[in-house]
Amino acid sequence: MKKLILAALFVSLATILFVENTVLNAAEDVLYGGDIVYTKPVKSVIFSHKAHVEGKKLDCDACHSGLFDPKALKAQEKSDFNMDSLYKGKYCGACHNGKTAFASNTQCARCHIGVKGYAASKQKTVSTASVPAGPKQPITIGSGDSAVKFSHASHEKSFGCDECHANVFPMKSGKTKVTMEAIYQGQYCGACHNGKKAFASSECLKCHAKVPAPKTPLIYKPKGAAPVNFSHDFHASAFKCDDCHKKLFVMQKGGSKMKMDAMYEGKSCGKCHDGKTASSVSDCGKCHK
Ligand code: HEC
Ligand code: HEC
Ligand code: HEC
Ligand code: HEC
Ligand code: HEC
Ligand code: HEC
Ligand code: HEC
Ligand code: HEC
Ligand code: HEC
Repeated sequence: MKKLILAALFVSLATILFVENTVLNAAEDVLYGGDIVYTKPVKSVIFSHKAHVEGKKLDCDACHSGLFDPKALKAQEKSDFNMDSLYKGKYCGACHNGKTAFASNTQCARCHIGVKGYAASKQKTVSTASVPAGPKQPITIGSGDSAVKFSHASHEKSFGCDECHANVFPMKSGKTKVTMEAIYQGQYCGACHNGKKAFASSECLKCHAKVPAPKTPLIYKPKGAAPVNFSHDFHASAFKCDDCHKKLFVMQKGGSKMKMDAMYEGKSCGKCHDGKTASSVSDCGKCHK
């Protein structure tokens, strides 16, 4: 019995250790570079990722979803990177306000490390600096049929972190609700996947393992006519998604204008329902039932 309990204890301890370990690995998985030492307008102010991320357990997105671009020394290119801005709650002052962290008008020397500190940190930075890298494993965006895997490894070859964080994505999984409409409008993945910078968003299967079409018919109840059932079951088996999306219809029920007048002119459903590709628009009962 004792042995059993011991074994159980051991297993649970191992699990705890294992979990701890994976958390640690996850943290190590993401490399954020070494300390950053600012030199403008004054030499020399230190920012330590280690102290903030490991010491204070701050999430990446506490700083990299708008406050700071993940690119060393980018902030000091801006003319308002000074104490005045900090006092107004910008940059480091977003936290160093006397509430979240020690105020910017106190303990000057903790941030301003002086000439000696600068020399010492230069040596340290060289020895601890690492090439910044995002999560090694692909991350999943969304859930269910439409979920998409995103690989940092393949994107990092061509882009710095600041290309995507924070203007395109926050530095935290699951914070954004990505829709195809937004992608087509040039947001999120669509900032590049527009057929120019990278393959177009119409190449569904390059991002989706399988493309999720609605399983039940979309039902419309127009005024002055019987209801219309539009079935993806049939249409998506005979055509490719991008035969209709988004050339003819947006990918959202009720999002497209669907008027008979337009159909008679060969638009909307009338693009195909012209009596040649498919039954004619004048065959009212085909659609209105
Ligand atoms: C408390 C704020 C804060 C947190 C939390 C934080 N960072 Fe940073 N990070 C910064 C600042 C400040 C810079 C430098 C930006 C500048 O100088 O304009 C920076 C720069 C970077 C860089 C660029 C490094 C280089 O050498 O160019 C990367 C990559 C980075 N951060 C990743 C991360 C990751 C990953 C996390 C989470 C594990 C994280 N950061 C958490 C504030 C933070
Ligand atoms: C998201 C909030 C946040 C931002 C932004 C932030 N800090 Fe901090 N910082 C903290 C917290 C929390 C602590 C620890 C609290 C304390 O000691 O009062 C801390 C501590 C520090 C320390 C002491 C570290 C140590 O080893 O004891 C320094 C130095 C520092 N920050 C500098 C900066 C600089 C420079 C910037 C801007 C480039 C900055 N911080 C931006 C939250 C932040
Ligand atoms: C939370 C960190 C932090 C604290 C605390 C801090 N500073 Fe700064 N300071 C900065 C940053 C960041 C800059 C801009 C980068 C640079 O100049 O290297 C800066 C720049 C400056 C500058 C040049 C720009 C300007 O505003 O004129 C002066 C002067 C300065 N600090 C003085 C002080 C004094 C005096 C104190 C204490 C009363 C102090 N700082 C406390 C972070 C801090
Ligand atoms: C081509 C765009 C792109 C580039 C470049 C990029 N990322 Fe990301 N990153 C993303 C996306 C997308 C997410 C997930 C956002 C979401 O789910 O809302 C993400 C999330 C993250 C996360 C959060 C992971 C989690 O599980 O919460 C970290 C950390 C991260 N990135 C770090 C980096 C670092 C460090 C770099 C530079 C070495 C980088 N990223 C470069 C697109 C990019
Ligand atoms: C900053 C620009 C940029 C953003 C933002 C971006 N990509 Fe990419 N992506 C590229 C480039 C460039 C390539 C390589 C060229 C190509 O294949 O057309 C690529 C390649 C890919 C590939 C093929 C390589 C691989 O990883 O298998 C996939 C899949 C992909 N991206 C998915 C996404 C998804 C999903 C998003 C949004 C979460 C996204 N990308 C956001 C620029 C970007
Ligand atoms: C560049 C990568 C990329 C391409 C190409 C792409 N998607 Fe997506 N798609 C995404 C991402 C990321 C999401 C968000 C995942 C989630 O939240 O489930 C998404 C979500 C969706 C959704 C659910 C949300 C919504 O907007 O309805 C559908 C349906 C969808 N995609 C269909 C398609 C179809 C059809 C195509 C081709 C015409 C396509 N996708 C091409 C990246 C892509
Ligand atoms: C013959 C044309 C056609 C084809 C092919 C087609 N769709 Fe659609 N789809 C539509 C129409 C019409 C709508 C509704 C638009 C509206 O109401 O504005 C729609 C709506 C959608 C919606 C939104 C459903 C909702 O409830 O909001 C999704 C998701 C979708 N389509 C995915 C797909 C996918 C994935 C494919 C390929 C496998 C595909 N469609 C192929 C015509 C088509
Ligand atoms: C890309 C071409 C195309 C578009 C666009 C299109 N259809 Fe069709 N549809 C067809 C073809 C081909 C058939 C099969 C031949 C036939 O029955 O006329 C068909 C068949 C049908 C049928 C009978 C089969 C079934 O699924 O019950 C209905 C109803 C229908 N379509 C409604 C619509 C409506 C409503 C729209 C617009 C929202 C539309 N279609 C847009 C090509 C299209
Ligand atoms: C290919 C399928 C299709 C055929 C055939 C069709 N309709 Fe429609 N009809 C629709 C769709 C889809 C809507 C829009 C539903 C909505 O948005 O609520 C619509 C809307 C309408 C409306 C209300 C809005 C408007 O545009 O006036 C009337 C009235 C109407 N149809 C009458 C007819 C008549 C009469 C015929 C035959 C001459 C016919 N329809 C043939 C698909 C069809």
